Amino acid sequence: MCSAANQTCGAFLVWICADLYKGSWFEDMNTERRKSEFPEHTDENRRIWDANAHWWDDRIGDGNDFQTLLIEPASERLLCVAAGDVILDVACGAGRFARRMAELGARVVAFDHSAQFIQRARERTRKDDAVEYHVLDAAKTDALLSLGVGRFGKAVCTMALMDMPEIIPLFFALTRMLKPGGVFVFSVTHPCFHSAAIQRFAEMYEEEAGRHVIRTGVKVSSYLTSFAKKAEGIVGQPKAQYCYHRPIHVLLQSCFEAGFVVDGIEEPGLPEPDRRRAGVRWDDMPEIPPVMVVRMKLTRGSQPSTAGAADTPRA
Ligand SMILES: C[S@@+](CC[C@H](N)C(=O)[O-])C[C@H]1O[C@@H](n2cnc3c(N)ncnc32)[C@H](O)[C@@H]1O
Repeated sequence: MCSAANQTCGAFLVWICADLYKGSWFEDMNTERRKSEFPEHTDENRRIWDANAHWWDDRIGDGNDFQTLLIEPASERLLCVAAGDVILDVACGAGRFARRMAELGARVVAFDHSAQFIQRARERTRKDDAVEYHVLDAAKTDALLSLGVGRFGKAVCTMALMDMPEIIPLFFALTRMLKPGGVFVFSVTHPCFHSAAIQRFAEMYEEEAGRHVIRTGVKVSSYLTSFAKKAEGIVGQPKAQYCYHRPIHVLLQSCFEAGFVVDGIEEPGLPEPDRRRAGVRWDDMPEIPPVMVVRMKLTRGSQPSTAGAADTPRA
C-alpha cells in the first residue's frame, strides 16, 4: 500500500517537475509580469502629467487629508528620517514630501519625469533647503544610476507607483543606488480597495430594531488581473490619467525578485467622522484603508554590483 502510494506520489512529482521543465509555470509567471508593465504608455503618460501638474499643485500642493493624515505620517514612521540621511525621492511631484524630509535633517535627491512638476518644486523650494531636483523617468535605468550608485541609505516613493507604466526597472535600479541594508518606503492607493475598478456605495436600511443605519463601503469585482485604465486622480483635472492596477502579489513579487524583503507595512484609515453620513467620500468609511504604505529592505548581499544597465530585466 505504502509503496504504491509512494509510487503515485513520485509519479505526480515527476509530472510536476516535467511540467516545470517544459517551462509552462515560468511562462505563466512571465506573462503575468509582462501584463503588469505598460512601456507603450511612457510618452503619453508624461504628457498627461505635464498637462495636469500645475492644476494638481494648485489644488493639493499645500496638503490635503490624504497627505497630512495618512501618507505623510505613515511614511515618516516607516522611513525614520534622521539628520544626515541621504534620501532618494522617486516621482516627487512638486516636492512636498522632499522638503518635509529636508526639514527633518535629510539631504534629498528628488526626481520626477514631469518638467512642469519639477518647475513647481523648484519654485516652492528655498535656496538653503537641502533638496536637489532632476527631471528623469523612473524606468530609465542609466539615468537613475547617474544619480549615484550606493549613495542612498533610504529611498521613498509616495503615491506614484500606481501612476507609473513600468516599475520593475526602478526596483532593480534601487538595489544598486541603495547602500546594503538600505530601505525603500512606498505608498500606493490600496490595491484591494482603491483601484480604478472599484465602486463606492452608501446604503441606508432598517436594522433588526427598526432603526435606520447607514452602510458605506466599496464593491470590488476585479482584483487579480493587472490593468491600465484612465481615471481622474482629482475630480475635474484637465486630463484623465492612467492608473495602473497591480494586485499586491504582483507589486511585491517584483520587489522580492529585485532583492527586497517586506520590513514594515501600514494601512492607515481616516478618522471616524463626528456623525456617520451616507456619503461615498473616503472619510465616510473609516474602516476602509484607501492607501497602503510599505517598507522594503534590501537583503544583505543582494545588490548585483557588477551588473550593467543592460542586465536589468525588462518585462
Ligand atoms: C500622484 S503624484 C505623487 C507626487 C508626489 N510623490 C506626492 O506624493 O505628492 C504621481 C507622480 O508620479 C510621477 N510619475 C509618473 N510616472 C513617472 C515616471 N515614469 N517617472 C517619474 N515620475 C513619474 C508624476 O509626474 C507625478 O508627479
